[in-house]
Amino acid sequence: MANSKERERINFDADWQFHLGDIPISYVVKAGMTGGITDCEMLEQGEWLDIAFVDKGMESNAIPDDWRKVQLPHDWCVEGEYANDPNLGSRPGSNGYLPTGIGYYVKRFPIPASDLGKKIVIQFDGVMRCSTVWVNGHLIGTHASGYTGFRYELSDLLRYGDEGDNVVCVRVDATEAEGWWYEGCGIYRHVWLETTDRLSVANYGTFITTLTLEEDESRIRIETTIENGYQTPRDSVLVTTIFDQEGHVVVDSRRECQIGRYDVVTTSEIIIVPNPQLWSPNTPYLYTAVSQVFYQGRLTDRYDTSFGIRTIEFTSDRGFLLNGEPLLIHGTCNHQDFAGVGVALPDRLIEYKIELLKEMGCNAYRSAHHPATPELLDICDRLGMLVVDENRKLDSSPTGISDLEYLICRGRNHPSIIMWSLENEEIIEGTVIGARILRTLANAAKKLDPTRPTMAAMNHGWNWGGYAEAVDIVGYNYGQRDGQDVGDHLEYPDRIMVGSESASCTTTRGIYAFDEKHGYLPAYGTVHPSWGCTPEKAWTDVVQNPFLTGVFIWTGFDYRGEPTPFEWPCVNSHFGIMDLCGLPKDSYYYYKSVWTSEPVVHAFPHWSWEGREGETIDVWVYSNCEKVELLLNGRSLGVKAMMPGFHLEWQVEYESGELTTRGYRGGEWIAEHKLVTVGAADRIVLTPDRTELQADGVDLCVVRVAITDDLGYVVPTAGNEIQFSIKGPGRIIGVGNGDPSCHEPDKADRRSAFNGYCIVLIQCDQEAGEIALTASGIGLSGSCTMTSYFDGKCLS
Ligand code: GAL
Repeated sequence: MANSKERERINFDADWQFHLGDIPISYVVKAGMTGGITDCEMLEQGEWLDIAFVDKGMESNAIPDDWRKVQLPHDWCVEGEYANDPNLGSRPGSNGYLPTGIGYYVKRFPIPASDLGKKIVIQFDGVMRCSTVWVNGHLIGTHASGYTGFRYELSDLLRYGDEGDNVVCVRVDATEAEGWWYEGCGIYRHVWLETTDRLSVANYGTFITTLTLEEDESRIRIETTIENGYQTPRDSVLVTTIFDQEGHVVVDSRRECQIGRYDVVTTSEIIIVPNPQLWSPNTPYLYTAVSQVFYQGRLTDRYDTSFGIRTIEFTSDRGFLLNGEPLLIHGTCNHQDFAGVGVALPDRLIEYKIELLKEMGCNAYRSAHHPATPELLDICDRLGMLVVDENRKLDSSPTGISDLEYLICRGRNHPSIIMWSLENEEIIEGTVIGARILRTLANAAKKLDPTRPTMAAMNHGWNWGGYAEAVDIVGYNYGQRDGQDVGDHLEYPDRIMVGSESASCTTTRGIYAFDEKHGYLPAYGTVHPSWGCTPEKAWTDVVQNPFLTGVFIWTGFDYRGEPTPFEWPCVNSHFGIMDLCGLPKDSYYYYKSVWTSEPVVHAFPHWSWEGREGETIDVWVYSNCEKVELLLNGRSLGVKAMMPGFHLEWQVEYESGELTTRGYRGGEWIAEHKLVTVGAADRIVLTPDRTELQADGVDLCVVRVAITDDLGYVVPTAGNEIQFSIKGPGRIIGVGNGDPSCHEPDKADRRSAFNGYCIVLIQCDQEAGEIALTASGIGLSGSCTMTSYFDGKCLS
């Protein structure tokens, strides 16, 4: 949302101080009791309560020196040491064997005297989890879920201008899990300070929907909620202006609104947008609605809403229709962590993940199993990625409903969101009580957003207790199991279905044999839990049964925790099509071949098997070409016809050299992939994902680090330890290598490569200039540079 004079939303991520571990509870509680007045002497008239927070018995406004400085988003869990010991707070397996615990954050900040009388709100986008917030010693609220945002009005409690600085203190208790995967710990999403007039558009106060779509016009409805926080009524004027993506005014409207004292009013209007540009994954066209509130000719608020014009429809026979056209969902389910940073992803890293998924041909993202970060939704709108935004729990308690309301009100203007998922695989699916709760959630969702269907991602409750009837779309998690999905379609032909989760195929990047000792799985894509299936089964099932609407593969990326089928020392999942660093596994090329029309031909395993000369190697090929030829050292090993959606196999007697795969369409050779027997590790090749960055203190570069031989071929088994150093206005914020059993720290300036690769994440400072990264290992070196720009200029 753009800042304006009338509405200021400042990022509040900088200058926090952090303390790991609890503080004796009595002191904290004391600080929470209206500033502990019971324990202090009564205050003299005009005296300030001078307790910001209470630390170890010392009532103080001073933040202790040993509370280290941190920049949000921050995840302290990823800073910890792996330990197979629940006494250390590491939840075996599910949390990736990293300790959780309790932590505190404090931040000191001034508020100008001129803001007195305004409405000042602190907004937390996500704190993992169970947070308690004090401002200037006053307890202001608690919030349990780590996945829903929350906000507190601070206006009464602040000190303005000369009255002194303010201190916000947040206690975070992440000891109890909310899910069964790595969740991180701490203030891992952004924090904002929002200052508005007391007559302003409410939080998430607009709701824009496409009513009709004709070729030359679209009717859209805009609902706007305005709050009057003044003691007297306000006869206001609301002016709504629609801008196109190029910034031209498309249409505007004006409405009078009478708003009583301390009242809230919602107006609804229908606006016609001529010649609408439709939103879709291929054409993610966005409009902006600017809502301006005037009182007695004075502008009191300007509130921007980004939205898209599009229609969605789900059918029981033709699947999903976007803007009236069938669109098969090529989806992936994803948790939110990444190498180097845990769950505290800088915005650019979220964007990077979405770009990687799009390159693979993925067109839909299921935020499993919780509401997505707000920035992820913005990015999906902008880049064109459909989203299933998901509720964390099947819970109709007041807290459960309020978490659902957050999910929906926060997301309902995002054109990328196509359905609300209300639960995932809850044990009480299919029970009478489960169905009641689901119905309550579905009704609550419909009330807030009648335009999108509700879905539940079920794994057993499909046909019991009226559970499936509670939602618009029935999610089939692993519905291919025993032909459940196809059978149910025949039995319930009117049921709208989606392949909400599938595959769970486990592979390790660059590994071609089952290795229980190290916790590695072969890349051939044949190992999966009993409920899962191969990528080929997951996809061809959908192609053969379009009523399934599409599929969401479990998962796009590996994530920490759930190291199925292993346990310690394995700490990461193996389900990803890409590893935790976003490096592609071989199955990536399977999905790319079936999800894009770009010619793909990809053979594996690698071709460096010294000592195995004469042995038979299973060579697999993924391709979307009609025919594929395999050649060893120039000799053809035969041409085979591809069956779309499957793979080809050759048994090849190993000899060193070159294994070439060629893809043909219409008899023409259109694609080639070469595997070579590599020489010894000779150098490090650093490939930044971008070389031009914004010098804004948060922009980020993902540098892929490859160990190559003297000819530049990646050594597919290299595990050399690499040391990084950086010069210029940037810093290393994390490293990773995708090895699911690696216990090296992610917060470091060194990392071992895993099967030839690792990554390093570089974040910019707020200073422009050249950032030079050098990498070295024993007998190896490499370097690369990036430039960060400030206002389009490199100043140094
Ligand atoms: C599903 C579940 C996921 C994950 C997956 C692993 O049943 O929804 O969260 O646990 O299994 O295969």
